[in-house]
Amino acid sequence: MINHKIEKMLNKQLNDELYSSYYYLAMSAYFENNAFEGFAKWMRMQSDEERVHAMKIYDFIHQVGGKVKLTTIKTPQTEWANPIAVFKDTYKHECEVTKSINTIVDTALNIKDHATNNFMQWFISEQVEEEATTQRLLDQLKFIGADKKGLFMLDREIGQRTVIT
Ligand code: FEO
Repeated sequence: MINHKIEKMLNKQLNDELYSSYYYLAMSAYFENNAFEGFAKWMRMQSDEERVHAMKIYDFIHQVGGKVKLTTIKTPQTEWANPIAVFKDTYKHECEVTKSINTIVDTALNIKDHATNNFMQWFISEQVEEEATTQRLLDQLKFIGADKKGLFMLDREIGQRTVIT
């Protein structure tokens, strides 16, 4: 049977992953509204990916005999000044997710919950990738700055994304 504190933390993380999905969908809508088709597609896939993350936690809670408690998902921001502002927020958000993942692992290790620790290692690796990807895109956008041609090219390139992990 799962430890009560860990169960609560996993349920919070489940909600946070669903919020991430919602947040990135709001970013995708922003890009759609501003004619950035490639960024819109990438963010929509990112939103789908976050739902996959949420469902991994959902399944794990059940597997270890816990109870899933779904709660309200807060309303995400819907407007940004420009694509750089979106990716600044994306990177910041991923860093926050990393912190909460690390806290769950710290707690699991403290109480010798090896199953949760083992399960969460996938998320530890995933966060390294998430931070690196969003940081790279942010760096590219900063490099491009106000150059419309560069922005157009990056939008096309990023729209080639075909996988979610
Ligand atoms: Fe579920 Fe983007 O971390």
